[in-house]
Amino acid sequence: MKTALITGVTGQDGCYLAKNLLDKGYKVYGAVKHTTGIQNWRLDDMGITKDIEYVDVDIVDQANVRRMIDKTKPDEVYNLAAQSFVALSFEQPEMAALIDGVGVLRVLETIYQVNPDIKFYQASTSELYGKVQEVPQNENTKFYPRSPYACAKLYGHSITVNYREAYNMYACSGILFNHESPMRGSEFVTRKITKGVCEWLHTKKPVTLGTIEAKRDWGHAEDYVEGMRLMLQQDKPEDYVLATGECYSVRQFADMVLDKLHIRHSWGKKRVGDIFIDECYDDEQGNVIITTDEKYKRPAEVDLLIGDSTKAREKLGWEPKYNLDLLIDNMLEWDLKRANGK
Ligand code: GDD
Repeated sequence: MKTALITGVTGQDGCYLAKNLLDKGYKVYGAVKHTTGIQNWRLDDMGITKDIEYVDVDIVDQANVRRMIDKTKPDEVYNLAAQSFVALSFEQPEMAALIDGVGVLRVLETIYQVNPDIKFYQASTSELYGKVQEVPQNENTKFYPRSPYACAKLYGHSITVNYREAYNMYACSGILFNHESPMRGSEFVTRKITKGVCEWLHTKKPVTLGTIEAKRDWGHAEDYVEGMRLMLQQDKPEDYVLATGECYSVRQFADMVLDKLHIRHSWGKKRVGDIFIDECYDDEQGNVIITTDEKYKRPAEVDLLIGDSTKAREKLGWEPKYNLDLLIDNMLEWDLKRANGK
């Protein structure tokens, strides 16, 4: 039986990865900040809370990271712990650097000292491409980070490559494009829309967004955690892009959600002071479903991300099962039930 340690196990990817590895017969340790009476809606919703053994860890504390590795003796470490909300990193840039940058170094250095044969997965991100230098983006595309989050992740990515090359460690970076699911936090735009619109059906309270013209390559987290696992099962460690290769704007995502819920709607612009904001109305009653507000816009935006995952498809045999249509169906299935109190 293999043993895996997942940092950030209570997040979206952590819970899907834990489920994936448990199903494959792994013993799974989940690193969380506080283990006393762990309560996590995601692990509960997936029915796996009791199948994981929890360890206390704060990734910004080196001694604590050391204890975590000593105690769990993992074969594989998946480092998913992160301050993952890009917008927040503009408010707390130093926390982003500590967790998403130096935190990665702490785990790598501990593995190197304790047992360099432990395999290591680093959660890298398409945010590294930021102001994109090439379309679509692949493993060789130049990085151009556009947020404190992405700058910190660039360090995490680079130090992973460096430990692999310097110490011959099995360390991989997965450059994952946006991946969503019913377990996504509602601060991220896709879930904000699916949850917000399902609730709007009852409350008529509009969903307020920021930049609706931003384009992303959206996949399903369930597919992407399988890619993480596959990266650690190869003959040699390498970095891989995981992406669907399709890209849609936030507005198009919202249109698809509204169409699936049979809400006939139109977009318009409204003047507020010196600026024009976008609004989306339902055609029957004229109620506002979606509005926009400058406060949700970022100081520097990533306008377009679209990935080329040929390498992962050819070398890992990775193939996503969900496209955007199926992803939205899955998210709405859960959010409609939740909005109905089920
Ligand atoms: N969150 C949010 N909320 N985003 C909004 C909103 C809003 O109200 N309105 C528009 N957006 C735009 C953002 O400005 C961004 O361009 C896009 O929607 C997606 O935003 P997020 O869902 O917050 O995701 P992200 O692309 O910034 O980052 C996610 O994906 C990365 C992979 O590329 C996160 O999961 C990162 O941790 C991950 O690395």
